[in-house]
Amino acid sequence: MRFSEHFFLAVFAGTVAAQGNSCKTIQYAFPAETNGNATRAEAVKAAYIRSWSEYAANCFGNDDLLPVSRGCRNDLDGFGATIIDGMDTAIIMGLTNIVARQLEHAATVDFSKASALVELFDINIRYIGGMLSAHDLLASGLFPNPYNQNHVDALVTQAAKLATNLKPCFETATGLPATYVNYTTMQPVAGFPLTVGHTTYLNVTNTAQAGTLILEWYRLSDKTGDRSFHDLAEKAESWLLKPNPPPRYPGLVGTATDSNTGRFLTLDGGWKSGVDSFLEYLVKTHIYNPAEDINDQWKNFWFTAADSTQDFIALHPYGHPELTFLSELDNDGNIEWSMDDYSCFAGGNLMLGGKYFDRPDLIALGEAAAESCHVTYNTTVTGLGPLSKSFPETIESIFYGWRITGDPKWQEYNWEIFQALNTTRTENAPYWEITDVNAEYGGQPYDYLSSYYFAETLKYLYLTFAEPDVVSLDRFTFNTECHPMLIQAGTCAVEEAKRKELF
Ligand SMILES: *[C@@H]1O[C@H](CO)[C@@H](O)[C@H](O)[C@H]1NC(C)=O
Ligand SMILES: *[C@@H]1O[C@H](CO)[C@@H](O)[C@H](O)[C@H]1NC(C)=O
Ligand SMILES: *[C@@H]1O[C@H](CO)[C@@H](O)[C@H](O)[C@H]1NC(C)=O
Ligand SMILES: *[C@@H]1O[C@H](CO)[C@@H](O)[C@H](O)[C@H]1NC(C)=O
Ligand SMILES: *[C@@H]1O[C@H](CO)[C@@H](O)[C@H](O)[C@H]1NC(C)=O
Repeated sequence: MRFSEHFFLAVFAGTVAAQGNSCKTIQYAFPAETNGNATRAEAVKAAYIRSWSEYAANCFGNDDLLPVSRGCRNDLDGFGATIIDGMDTAIIMGLTNIVARQLEHAATVDFSKASALVELFDINIRYIGGMLSAHDLLASGLFPNPYNQNHVDALVTQAAKLATNLKPCFETATGLPATYVNYTTMQPVAGFPLTVGHTTYLNVTNTAQAGTLILEWYRLSDKTGDRSFHDLAEKAESWLLKPNPPPRYPGLVGTATDSNTGRFLTLDGGWKSGVDSFLEYLVKTHIYNPAEDINDQWKNFWFTAADSTQDFIALHPYGHPELTFLSELDNDGNIEWSMDDYSCFAGGNLMLGGKYFDRPDLIALGEAAAESCHVTYNTTVTGLGPLSKSFPETIESIFYGWRITGDPKWQEYNWEIFQALNTTRTENAPYWEITDVNAEYGGQPYDYLSSYYFAETLKYLYLTFAEPDVVSLDRFTFNTECHPMLIQAGTCAVEEAKRKELF
């Protein structure tokens, strides 16, 4: 019997080892007693309730609140951006009365009527991403779902209607999408022309616009069974994956393409605005469903870009060997020695891919980049980064730092940022953006509260302080507006949920 016992154990160990190799774990192995910090999570929730109440009292149904004048703005086609972008955050926080009202709006808003040009990029990441995410969170069984199920089901049909209205954007010579669709003619409309040397190009598509579709449009096809969304996103992505002409540093493609020819028009690469979420989605969509990554082309492209980042553009400012910044490249592909705040998301993305693909050097690079972005915050008077409009990028990387390394210093950083945000408001008013991070109280308040404050800022902050298994990175992958989608395969947590038929 000794022999067969031994044999059994050997087979069993082999099975465990094989599973260990074939499934992935993204989050740090938090000890079971890790509880987050309920006081801090409640403070973020209170901020959501306060800001939402101002929005709902003054602007319900409009896109955004103007918090100083208590007016409203419709810069996202008037579909109610704050409601739909902020809905999944309220689901996660368990704000059931607010969610019921948000769901009713999402189910009934008419996505076929808009007065101006409708922009593919923002409409996709905020509205389509917001509705798919709300549906995924409620379908997961991990959050309270006492809602009208017709309204919940409508999230998918509404997202599909909106995406269908955006399809004319892809009616270009190459399938690289135009920036807008004119809702009157249902024709594609290009964005700003671009002059390079002596030539002016009229059909310019930004790299991030074309490369920030695969996650939402693949998810939408999976939920509806209609492959057309998947195929349009795949075609657009295909031009970015074989860049012509090739970038100066492999993988670090520029920001502008020509939708007439599929050629790249500039070599101004990096992790900055204009490229950022193209690189981000390569790893996030691979995580969503590795089987969709045909021949590992997203994974390989992301590795190429990450390796070039490490080898060429991860720089230490003069006299500061302890800081690591990711430089931008200029239009000719030369290193600029400067970085915009949008690039601060890169630290989190490098940590995410580094953990998933078992590349400790990339986790370390991501940590160093996120640390350096944090330093740009805590050295300004207000405690906010130099580009206050985009401070969520750093909050995001800090969130990944916490969930991936388990080092509580990251929680402290986001708590400092939350408190700094709190000092830029006056009594009884919700938060607002500020104009000068180096002036006390942030200078003049900027009279605009973007929907991303509800979608992204408050969600990453809340999830930094909630228990670490709330919206675990092993079950969900986030779009670029912080909307989590259910991972379909590949992580140990998803495979286990499937075995237990909880998926
Ligand atoms: C939770 O956060 C509060 C507020 O910052 C702090 O006073 C408290 O010490 C924290 N609790 C733990 C257990 O870290
Ligand atoms: C959309 O197309 C119509 C009809 O050609 C045109 O009158 C209108 O100006 C266009 N809208 C925008 C915002 O360009
Ligand atoms: C693309 O450019 C051509 C001119 O080269 C122009 O006629 C066409 O309208 C443009 N398409 C879009 C979608 O702007
Ligand atoms: C800013 O944060 C860094 C850690 O990222 C820390 O080393 C430094 O002392 C902080 N500076 C200030 C002024 O608080
Ligand atoms: C936010 O600021 C208000 C005063 O404006 C204060 O009462 C509250 O305690 C602050 N909250 C946090 C979490 O710092």
